[in-house]
Amino acid sequence: MIIVDRISEMQALMRQYHREGKTIGFVPTMGYLHEGHAALIDRARQENDIVVLSVFVNPLQFGPNEDFARYPRDFERDRHIAEQHGVDVLFHPEAGEMYPGPLTVQVVVKARMDVLCGRSRPGHFDGVATVLTKLFHIVMPDRAYFGLKDAQQVAVVDGLIRDFNFPIELVPVPTVREADGLAKSSRNVYLSPQEREEAPALYQALRAAAAAVDGGERSADAIRRLVKEHIEAHTHAEIDYVEVCSYPDLAPLETLHGTVLVAVAVRFASARLIDNIILELPKAHRQED
Ligand code: PAJ
Repeated sequence: MIIVDRISEMQALMRQYHREGKTIGFVPTMGYLHEGHAALIDRARQENDIVVLSVFVNPLQFGPNEDFARYPRDFERDRHIAEQHGVDVLFHPEAGEMYPGPLTVQVVVKARMDVLCGRSRPGHFDGVATVLTKLFHIVMPDRAYFGLKDAQQVAVVDGLIRDFNFPIELVPVPTVREADGLAKSSRNVYLSPQEREEAPALYQALRAAAAAVDGGERSADAIRRLVKEHIEAHTHAEIDYVEVCSYPDLAPLETLHGTVLVAVAVRFASARLIDNIILELPKAHRQED
């Protein structure tokens, strides 16, 4: 595995791979790798000649009161996991390499940012879209792998790739969970033992929503209520949002039809957790919207 921390070195290496006719699969992360990240790497390994992993905690996507400074970091561990999963190139730049000075141009997300996490975290997706634009130009991948745990991120990146004509195939990967259903996340380490016990209630609530939809429930309001009540009954967390919307457009829905995203975000004492499920329903016969 080659470890690179310079952009110019990375671009030279990637050009070389392209010249040799090799396909490049890219997995962008902020490190503190877990099985969710590993699933992305494994999928990239299956589908490409070269697998590139980036580990970079991007300051631009954290709000002023968010956890940038204490975001968990362990590069030695990440490097070991990357090696075990067959990563060819690990890109690990310093913040000063990625942002040598104030940006003169920034990517601003214009759609799908005023709902879900975009509403709770103003500017977050601008930071994500900006760093990914840089990373895509640095890595020049054929395919980029993103987890559906961050379904809104997948939708925003889909827009970025289409709008800016990146010649990249976006590959969404299903959420990897703990045995009790909790979605794997670098932020799970913040949870106290009691919070860790309560946290699977998020996925249970989403499963209950899926079961209600299976049973014929089509009211977005009823689904939202059901998810909320389950989380309130089983955790001490404060609910940030419970939303039911179309996917990948993220438009609000009153009656469920087509591809539907049910998404939650909650705040425990020292961790904000998110989770979601995507449900496939028959399309509406006549679309009102
Ligand atoms: P990070 O939170 O490190 O996540 C990196 C990738 O791993 C994302 O695509 C995320 O959706 C995926 N991932 C995280 N947990 C997962 C799980 N339990 N199952 C499947 N995939 C999972 O997302 C980011 O970093 C950043 O915003 C980034 C895209 C790197 C831009 O800075």
